[in-house]
Amino acid sequence: MTRYFITFPTGTSDIVQKVLTENHIAVEEISDGIAVIATDKKPRDIEEFGFITHVYLLIAQTIFNDSIEKTVDSLKTESFRIPASFFRGRNFKVRVSYKGQTVSFDKEALDGLEKRIAHNYKLRLDPEGKCNEFWFYIRENKNTYFGLKLTDTKARDIARKKGQLQSGIGAVMVSMAKIQPSAVVMDPFCGSGGISDEIIRVPFKQLIISDINDGAVRLLKKKYSSNAKVKIRHGDYRSLSIPRDSVDCIITDPPWGEFGKGIDLQEMTHSFRMWLKPNGKLIILISINLHEELVRTLKLSGFKVLNAYGTLVGGNKAKIIEARKCPHELLTP
Ligand SMILES: C[S@@+](CC[C@H](N)C(=O)[O-])C[C@H]1O[C@@H](n2cnc3c(N)ncnc32)[C@H](O)[C@@H]1O
Repeated sequence: MTRYFITFPTGTSDIVQKVLTENHIAVEEISDGIAVIATDKKPRDIEEFGFITHVYLLIAQTIFNDSIEKTVDSLKTESFRIPASFFRGRNFKVRVSYKGQTVSFDKEALDGLEKRIAHNYKLRLDPEGKCNEFWFYIRENKNTYFGLKLTDTKARDIARKKGQLQSGIGAVMVSMAKIQPSAVVMDPFCGSGGISDEIIRVPFKQLIISDINDGAVRLLKKKYSSNAKVKIRHGDYRSLSIPRDSVDCIITDPPWGEFGKGIDLQEMTHSFRMWLKPNGKLIILISINLHEELVRTLKLSGFKVLNAYGTLVGGNKAKIIEARKCPHELLTP
């Protein structure tokens, strides 16, 4: 088994651990946004869990020791062999992430380590070019991970439209839904497709997406034109004509407008309850400020709230709520 460290959206550790374990990947340690895993899977297959931002081959672990110089010195890397297939070309650079920010350090601090890497792996230092990247991840809790980055920045996040949900969060929501190949899935506030882009990566029977924004819908119609399983509607979600009790799963990210300018939560949950089959699942992302009100509304509208995970969306605190439609008309307390 090979040991890697992976990064993923902050606040989603619980669900990430659950999904990885269910897929027979050993999670050796996990903290907010980072985990050490051991698996026989190839890095490309690990990346297929869309919520993983980056995969690094784990070369060494240590505890941050007051300064980057001392920490670098305490790393034992000499005996670590890296399979040739993990390298892209012969150039390399070393980068440092300190408490979530990429930072630059004194050339002197990394000098010894760079020499050791050049010698061990027969690589050439090229701090400017596109090359093999060795990364230090120094966390708030002082845990420090050193490894070789194996993934590129996701093309789908580079092409992300304004307001579009980050692919990692969309992927976490889709993993939570456990979509069956026979499922009818829906996102009535699809925007530019941050969630639907992740849904179409798993097997499903039909996906119904809709939004009031004409431009966003037009782009998605073009993007999914060859996928007959995706039905795209344009308009207010309240005017959608969806048969009662016909949807297995709603995964959505409604507008966050607060202080009266947003969506009427009661009206929205009423529609969701009408569309969903008995026991149908709802995975919904909501701003932290609306979370309690939404949980209350869901319970009063006949949903059982199963989980609520905190996360950050564009730097704003949010919750992903997992709920299930109670199968009868009785309202849960
Ligand atoms: C938070 S955004 C969703 C972003 C989306 N997840 C993405 O990745 O682009 C909320 C969306 O709700 C849409 N919206 C607002 N009011 C609506 C309504 N009454 N009916 C349908 N869509 C609405 C907005 O146009 C916006 O695209």
